[in-house]
Amino acid sequence: MKGLKIAVIGGGSVYTPELIAGLISSELELPAESVVLMDIDPERLEIVGGLAKRMASSGAKFRLELTTDRRQALAGADFVIAQLRVGGMAARILDETTPLKFGVVGQETTGPGGFGKALRTIPIMLDIAEDMEELCPEAFLINFTNPSGIVTDALLRHNRVRSIGLCNVPMGMRHMIAGWLDADPAEVELDYVGLNHLSWVRGVRSAGGDAFDRAFSAAVARAQQGEFAFSASLLETLAMIPSYYLRYYYQHDGILAEQKRAARTRGEEVREIDGELLSLYADPSLATKPESLNRRGGAHYSTAALALISAIHNDKREVHIVNVRNAGALPDLPREAVVEVPALVDGDGVHPLASKPLPLYVRGLVQAVKVYEELTVEAAMKGDDRVALRALLAHPLVPSFDSAQGLWESIKEANRPYLPQFFTSP
Ligand code: G6P
Repeated sequence: MKGLKIAVIGGGSVYTPELIAGLISSELELPAESVVLMDIDPERLEIVGGLAKRMASSGAKFRLELTTDRRQALAGADFVIAQLRVGGMAARILDETTPLKFGVVGQETTGPGGFGKALRTIPIMLDIAEDMEELCPEAFLINFTNPSGIVTDALLRHNRVRSIGLCNVPMGMRHMIAGWLDADPAEVELDYVGLNHLSWVRGVRSAGGDAFDRAFSAAVARAQQGEFAFSASLLETLAMIPSYYLRYYYQHDGILAEQKRAARTRGEEVREIDGELLSLYADPSLATKPESLNRRGGAHYSTAALALISAIHNDKREVHIVNVRNAGALPDLPREAVVEVPALVDGDGVHPLASKPLPLYVRGLVQAVKVYEELTVEAAMKGDDRVALRALLAHPLVPSFDSAQGLWESIKEANRPYLPQFFTSP
């Protein structure tokens, strides 16, 4: 059987050693023959790629190549993993600080911060997907690039490549809940529903049996001890286990106050962590993924990616939680909208599994955020100020038209180099 070519766009990410470690361990039945790390930043590529090469030199069965040439990386690929950050940390920090001036949480994927990030990222991801149509039309695009749900929505609406959006949150929740149940994560299945970074677990099975009540009681007990991100009364009100990103909705004002008091944003912290990681990676005696990579938030991302690739390649008919076109799985949302739900994975890709309707008390939030996401994709494609304003106005965290206008002016200006679609005259 022909070995696989896996291309990683944004291969200079500090997360890459986690992916390389996963690829080296042969557990996943992945006959990778060639792995190409591509990045536009040659220095990062050399440092991260250097560590990746040292890791691969003992025991990897694949050839590892580094390149700054995207087309070379994509040519003939079977799987493309996208994990890039348009504008780097500087742009993230602006995404996190601008909304604070308008009384809205500053977060890189949720709310107006995620909006700016989406507008910068969608055109670049579509360029990559267009290259894929030409250079590897049968390949799957596994997208981690944030905001992953919106970016995947844009890809599936405007390009023919087989794109799948992935996030580490579902895998993280599975591990967390398995820990509560003292179960093997591989034996735990979640009835998981919503959008990327806007999701709830409403059912749990462990080793084939219903384990939701036990998992839910464990969550409530932890909440009572102050060991969970949400209060026991919120959990009891929801009767579901919310994912971490719902804090930005359910605890909006508290988080906003915390962020305003904080000496620095998460992006500023991450910039420091990344600097430390890169100096570790540059040490020629290091040949393994350092423990301190755990200080970044994306734990389990490589497990999610490689298990998904293996399920497709080996036609496993397994269930994975992915960002996929709804196609009627969630009756409360449009068929063409991208949702984050369990899907059956086989050699043809991902097929969302039919889901029960959303509980009434979260339906409005999910629908409103989906409308915002659709408008965001439209704004990114058209470079139309009016559509951008409509997107912000539709977002449940934006309190007024005045704030929407102020936000748009600031976001547009802060992202000027990355938003040519809004600055070219008609
Ligand atoms: C979570 C999210 C990812 C995000 C990461 C941020 O795991 O699911 O989408 O990229 O956190 O972590 P960071 O270390 O960059 O704050």
